[in-house]
Amino acid sequence: MIVKISEIAKYVGQEVTIQGWIANLRSSGKIVFLQLRDGSAGVLQAVIAADVVSKSDFETAKTATTESSVEVSGKVMAESRSPGGFELQAKSIKIIQKSEEYPIGKKEHGPEFLLDNRHLWLRSQQQVAILQVRDSIIWALREFFRKEGFVMTDTPILTPTSCEGTTTLFATEYFGEKAYLSQSGQLYLEALAMALGKVYDFGPTFRAEKSKTRRHLTEFWMLDAEMAYMDLEQSMALQERMLVYVIKKVLQERKKELEILERDIKPLEKVAEGGFIKMTYDEALAELKKLGSDIKRGEDLGNDDETILTHAHDKPIFVTNYPLEIKAFYMKPDPKNSKTALCADLLAPEGYGEVIGGSQRIDDLKLLEQRLKEYKLPRKAFEWYLDLRRYGSVPHSGFGIGLERTVTWLCGLKHVRESIPFPRLINRLTP
Ligand code: 4AD
Ligand code: MG
Repeated sequence: MIVKISEIAKYVGQEVTIQGWIANLRSSGKIVFLQLRDGSAGVLQAVIAADVVSKSDFETAKTATTESSVEVSGKVMAESRSPGGFELQAKSIKIIQKSEEYPIGKKEHGPEFLLDNRHLWLRSQQQVAILQVRDSIIWALREFFRKEGFVMTDTPILTPTSCEGTTTLFATEYFGEKAYLSQSGQLYLEALAMALGKVYDFGPTFRAEKSKTRRHLTEFWMLDAEMAYMDLEQSMALQERMLVYVIKKVLQERKKELEILERDIKPLEKVAEGGFIKMTYDEALAELKKLGSDIKRGEDLGNDDETILTHAHDKPIFVTNYPLEIKAFYMKPDPKNSKTALCADLLAPEGYGEVIGGSQRIDDLKLLEQRLKEYKLPRKAFEWYLDLRRYGSVPHSGFGIGLERTVTWLCGLKHVRESIPFPRLINRLTP
């Protein structure tokens, strides 16, 4: 019977076959110890003893190499000294392909070397665990929105305009015209919300970010949600429910992976209790100044500001009411303080910083026309977007959550580059 290593506890005393790869091996005279991996969590030690397996199988095991693909059959035993607590007492071994000398693992490697070998580095236990957590986050998000009555839909990647400012656009030639890779599906999603009510999209987005920080990718996955007849307060409540749902799911499904990543889960359990903090931009600034930041009013929160602010609290923080001029053209001014926007960035604790950006949108035609002018955006290209304010405009809000920032946070990673299979960074397009 072919079984997965993650399920091995169910087969103690039985004979099974593992199809996998040799993550590591050592031999001592008449015994060869193989650490097998098969894509499910953890590794399983297979013990190949000269007096149990055939002579040729023992020879095979002795001359095997790291990362060779193998099928090993034997009896599952509980063994507390083994990693994972179980062991396979092999009866036979078959090499599917004997690996050439594997470039990773002999010594400590720097990040650039590992990224150059990303196609192989992905096989390491930590990287597998990260991708398993990523998978759970994606499914949890989809489940959540389905339960909340949202319709999943899709927005284009090739677009004629910008959504989030013109400085971070990737341009491409489009049959004699210019097209841009989408920075966010939001504007299209607003049209879809007027058709379907509550909608979300989930796909790759692109930012020609010159920033070389641990939080920035040039290609990343974003889930945008857009809700007709919803104000900012309701949107924030939804975001909190969403994150609580996702974190609970990850804690439940990916305990072992979080252990492999040595992720302290106490801070996540705290977040899963809910009770997110809200503060205005001005309140955040006042607190930041006390914490030693030199941020000035009118500046966006820098990475360092987000880091120190979120270290000072154990719950995520919604920072609301940013000055209008440092936010996107589509954000609705707050009627109570018209110099600020009805917007909220959600900052994750433990120094992780912004994972969600959202706002209530301008629903008035005249104001939106004026804002386009102020932002020097080409009116013609936005005519269809203005139509949404001509034909049955309603109050509406939405937000975008960055998948990689979320994975980085929940996995407790230092850098966003490990949260996506093949990161695209300012200086990296390969492999
Ligand atoms: O705050 P942003 O720019 O918001 C928007 O694009 C809105 N149109 C979303 C909406 O309202 N539908 O981006 C949203 C999130 C950020 O909070 C962050 O998590 C992620 O996308 N993000 C990035 N992640 C990795 N690398 C980058 N360069 C990112 N830029 C934004
Ligand atoms: Mg933002």
